[in-house]
Amino acid sequence: MTQRDEILAKTKKIIEKEQKADEKLQLICELLHREVGHYDWVGFYLVEGSDLVLGPFVGEPTEHMKISFGEGICGQAAERKDTFIVQDVSKETNYLACSPKVRSEIVVPIFNGEKIIGELDIDSHTPSSFTEEDRKFLEQIARLVAPLL
Ligand code: SME
Repeated sequence: MTQRDEILAKTKKIIEKEQKADEKLQLICELLHREVGHYDWVGFYLVEGSDLVLGPFVGEPTEHMKISFGEGICGQAAERKDTFIVQDVSKETNYLACSPKVRSEIVVPIFNGEKIIGELDIDSHTPSSFTEEDRKFLEQIARLVAPLL
């Protein structure tokens, strides 16, 4: 079993627990943050109308508790309804900085059918840290957690 497969198996176990959805999302943030070295900030944003509202997360607190569609990397991913990888956040003009330490970011939309209901947002202190493997892996995580949102 690869490390990614083990994390997927652990995610499924968390989802099966008799706990509140928010607590499960928090445990999944902690799991991803703990097990993958370059995942320095891991959080979920939940769609409310045309805004993204911060849910469970692990990492430095952020001032970006509410982000409109179109705004920042999160808001752009929501409009595109597609995973958005930014390998160098300093080159992205439509970007909301959480911490000066962040160098790269991936935002993965979470869907209920065609409808976007949330996002998984991960920041890294390492430049160009997100690969196609991260994209596929995190899109699998997003599909697993969708029923919790
Ligand atoms: N960097 C994001 C904002 C959220 S923080 O990374 C937690 C953006 O540009 O949308």
